[in-house]
Amino acid sequence: MKVLVVISSKHGATREIAKAVADRLCDAGHSVTTVDATAQDTDLDKLDAFVIGSALYMGHWTKEAHRFIDEHHTQLAAKPVWLFSSGPLGDPSEPVKSDPDVDELTALLGARGHAVFGGALDKADLNLVERAAIRAVHAKYGDYRHWDEIAAWADDIDKALKNISAHTMPVN
Ligand SMILES: Cc1cc2nc3c(=O)[nH]c(=O)nc-3n(C[C@H](O)[C@H](O)[C@H](O)COP(=O)(O)O)c2cc1C
Repeated sequence: MKVLVVISSKHGATREIAKAVADRLCDAGHSVTTVDATAQDTDLDKLDAFVIGSALYMGHWTKEAHRFIDEHHTQLAAKPVWLFSSGPLGDPSEPVKSDPDVDELTALLGARGHAVFGGALDKADLNLVERAAIRAVHAKYGDYRHWDEIAAWADDIDKALKNISAHTMPVN
């Protein structure tokens, strides 16, 4: 299957998660392209499935990720779509609350799943305003991405795609 992985990342953590998902799907035999959500010239009609991931900032997906979905929602909704958010810092003992924005996007696109992966934050990458925001919410710096969890999610997408493909193969 031809899969497009769309990324919206400010500091690179989400981009690395997207790359891990893309590499895993590639290894499973899919043809995978990754693009930034700001890309202008992507031909979505030729693709079979989409994975869209955004970093969370102040409780929301980035405006670039929202804009991508606003512009392309009809074409996206016509194919299987999976969403992921990259954000929570620290290892929460309680499940992360669902983001109302992403719930709406899930419904709009008929997305087959939404995963929330731990994020990563390096103080050296942040400007003063971002550092103040992190201080205000007592968030922790560090890398909280769990690569096994991310690989397992990509494997679930692979299984679903192979299942779809098996049921849509032309019968001779
Ligand atoms: C100013 C600021 C606000 C953030 N707000 C949230 C938030 O509301 N929820 C969350 O889970 N993570 C939040 N984070 C953490 C980021 O989402 C996390 O570090 C993410 O992995 C960054 O992805 P990126 O490097 O791709 O931009 C925030 C980080 C910063 C610097």
